[in-house]
Amino acid sequence: MDNIETLLEELTNAYGPSGFEGPVRTVMQRWLSPICHHMETDGMGSLMARLDKDDGPPRIMMAAHMDEVGLMVKFVTADGYVRFQPLGGWLDQALINQRWVILTRNGPIQGVSGIKTPHVMPQEARNQVFKRDQMFIDVGASSLEDAEERLSIRPGDPIAPDSNFTPLSGGSLYMAKAWDDRAGLAVMVEVMRRLKNIPPPNTTYAVATTQEEVGLRGAHTSSYRVEPDIGINLEAGVAGDYPGTTQEESQERVGKGPSIFLHDASMLPNLKLRDLFIDVAKEKEIPIQFDVLNGYGEDGAEIQKSRGGAPTINIAVPTRYLHSHYGIISRQDFDHTVELIIAVVQRLDAATVQELKNFD
Ligand code: CO
Repeated sequence: MDNIETLLEELTNAYGPSGFEGPVRTVMQRWLSPICHHMETDGMGSLMARLDKDDGPPRIMMAAHMDEVGLMVKFVTADGYVRFQPLGGWLDQALINQRWVILTRNGPIQGVSGIKTPHVMPQEARNQVFKRDQMFIDVGASSLEDAEERLSIRPGDPIAPDSNFTPLSGGSLYMAKAWDDRAGLAVMVEVMRRLKNIPPPNTTYAVATTQEEVGLRGAHTSSYRVEPDIGINLEAGVAGDYPGTTQEESQERVGKGPSIFLHDASMLPNLKLRDLFIDVAKEKEIPIQFDVLNGYGEDGAEIQKSRGGAPTINIAVPTRYLHSHYGIISRQDFDHTVELIIAVVQRLDAATVQELKNFD
């Protein structure tokens, strides 16, 4: 495993359902502290790091979110089964018969979302999808008291998917949970690491936000703190290159380079910034692709609307099977995304930023 694989493994294996990003923040702090002169957290737990001691303009805010889709303990039944509240957008099919980790104050407790056995089901019931409000997690407790006292489970405890980083196809692809948005966090770390030796003509921030999956909440406060001139949000993209998806739904393909979002349900990018990315990609011979999505939401929407507004764009590493226990990204896409962001950040001097912010 090289350095990048270690970074990706540590970030994706860390547990971080919305509102419980601590373990992911710890990984980010460990990787960023040897690189950055200044790091602070805001009142919602977002981590803001910059290379320089001072914070003069122009300020470029890279952002990626630390939280992943997860669950929360709603209550424990009298016979010891855990009922849950989903955090973020899950398909009911993706919730059933999976491994989970309940993050209690005394440490992690493993369990499985049990599925009714076909042996007891009439033929017509076997084809039905199980609904989330029928589901439960079996942690091996014998009663409510046993779950509360022996296993320390409390209502409100976060629950994370339990799956491990796994290289596929000889290491050209990686399978893991939480690429959304650990892929973006890893891009930021690698960009900062490499910018340290080639300082950009601006103050570049790496901002690791909280609570994106429940409504872009951490990006709201952190962008007010940073006061960016330009926003570059980094995300897990929406690959549409597997059976059952169409080009109408999504145009991204794994292995074809970073994706520039032109439309999603939360924001429109600044088109001058889009053109700068296209020009730089051409010049550096970095493959890029575009995506126009009907749904989706991302932190760029909050950066764009903070204070007086800032030209912002969302750049994504194409990802298969978002919001499930196992997603897939490509190493080549990751490397190309890092190269593209570095090349653009190097261009963002005061004059260029002023031109991007000029609407006359
Ligand atoms: Co995301």
